[in-house]
Amino acid sequence: MISSSPETSTPPLVLVDRQPPVAVVRLNRPEVLNALSPEMLATLSQALARLDEDDAIRAMVITGGERAFCAGADIQVMASASPMDILRRNTLEAWLRIRRLNKPLIAAVNGYAYGGGCELALICDLIVAAENARFAQPEIKLGIMPGAGGTQRLSKAIGPYRAMEMILTGEPLSAQEAFANGLVNRVVPPERCLDEALELARAISARPPVAVRLAREAVRLGVETTLREGLEIERRNYLLLYDTLDQKEGMAAFLERRPPQFKGE
Ligand code: CAA
Repeated sequence: MISSSPETSTPPLVLVDRQPPVAVVRLNRPEVLNALSPEMLATLSQALARLDEDDAIRAMVITGGERAFCAGADIQVMASASPMDILRRNTLEAWLRIRRLNKPLIAAVNGYAYGGGCELALICDLIVAAENARFAQPEIKLGIMPGAGGTQRLSKAIGPYRAMEMILTGEPLSAQEAFANGLVNRVVPPERCLDEALELARAISARPPVAVRLAREAVRLGVETTLREGLEIERRNYLLLYDTLDQKEGMAAFLERRPPQFKGE
């Protein structure tokens, strides 16, 4: 277990557990239900960026504690902020850095995923929810609105009408409701949540990494663009894969009825 935190702060804001080919990044401010201070967000994005560059790691799991995945941006820090303070803190850069990662991210959500916590789960590629998970964009109750992608990603994930209800009422979805709405991949008992996410991460890690990267990119960019552009991105990435050794190996292994040995090349 490696701690990832600014030098001055103890205990560490984020804990990194490398278990190649996967890694777990755990938010670690349990006393405030993992509220995202600007420092914690920066630390999280740096930790993920390091793992993204780590050749031994192929997928990352983000998790929190038993009671809370993350209760959103730190209201203590935001309460007296001016627009200029928010601008100077430049949390957008940290969010963008997470968005630009090339490796699959899986959220393992126990308890509250509220506000920025829900947005953090939404930025992941897959979400495993514990039966006690709750997803909400409660910013409206504070006199603000989602500011880290919630209005856009939630609408795309569950449709504009259901997203509108969550964003305008601030009321949560249970894990089962989130599953029924297509927001989460699976709902599991709380004690299984991290293991289930790790199993998914390991299953993806066994697939050819270049194909994983380009397929993931096509899905992610496709959500953000027109169908026509999305199809062009898909075509380009599809063709690129015919230039990889893993494509030769994958198809040869199928024809020779043996397991493939992927090298990531
Ligand atoms: N920021 C700062 N502190 C927080 C926090 C947050 N987002 N969420 C919880 N805490 C703190 C509480 O103040 C409390 O601290 P003390 O023990 O010192 O009083 C501690 O965590 C435990 O919280 P509660 O006593 O409130 O726990 P609960 O079980 O009764 O309720 C909860 C849990 C429903 C999640 C409730 O804490 C809550 O509503 N939290 C705020 C959620 C929220 O509004 N998030 C959105 C923030 S804005 C945002 O995220 C903007 C964006 O888009 C980026």
